[in-house]
Amino acid sequence: MEEYYEKGLLKAIGVSNFYPDRFIDLSHFVKIKPMVNQMETHVFNQQKKLHEILKENKCQLMSWGPFAEGRNDFFNNTVLKSIGSKYGKTSAQTALRYLIQKNIVVIPKSTHKERMIENINVFDFSLSNDDMAALEKLDTENSLFFSHYDPDFVKFILNYKI
Ligand SMILES: NC(=O)c1ccc[n+]([C@@H]2O[C@H](COP(=O)([O-])OP(=O)(O)OC[C@H]3O[C@@H](n4cnc5c(N)ncnc54)[C@H](OP(=O)(O)O)[C@@H]3O)[C@@H](O)[C@H]2O)c1
Repeated sequence: MEEYYEKGLLKAIGVSNFYPDRFIDLSHFVKIKPMVNQMETHVFNQQKKLHEILKENKCQLMSWGPFAEGRNDFFNNTVLKSIGSKYGKTSAQTALRYLIQKNIVVIPKSTHKERMIENINVFDFSLSNDDMAALEKLDTENSLFFSHYDPDFVKFILNYKI
């Protein structure tokens, strides 16, 4: 990736699922540090520590699973719902707006056109400081998916056949 970046063929070097310790390690030994790190990030797992480290290294945090893929009854969460309703927005829009205001790039996924439109319609309102603080409290600092530190998960990934 460094070679192709230097040739001008790549605009940016991105990595995925580099936890804070792995990111620091990688950044220390490469010639060109990654510019993007895509990581599970949503209101229930806000990645504050990782985000700080990435900022120090001028690397953009990109959220995969910004809706936690609906886990934890995401779209019915009462805090997301009640804050969203003040702005005439859905839980999904509120969750995306929260991350965007935290300077986190979001890549929500939907197979429905109307939801794609809903999900992009988040640039016409701003959450207040109080609402941001309330949403910050939803953070459990834990994954709703898996840990890349779990040896069984690493074995599963290594043996994964497409
Ligand atoms: N780097 C990695 O390790 C990694 C891991 C996982 C995912 N990703 C990427 O992250 C992106 C996000 O995808 P994701 O599937 O993980 O998670 P997600 O965006 O958190 O959740 C997607 C789910 O939310 C539903 N949804 C979307 N918009 C909605 C809305 N407005 N209201 C209600 N439900 C809504 C979708 O249903 P419908 O489709 O039925 O609308 C789908 O079930 C994808 O591009 C994916 O490739 C990367």
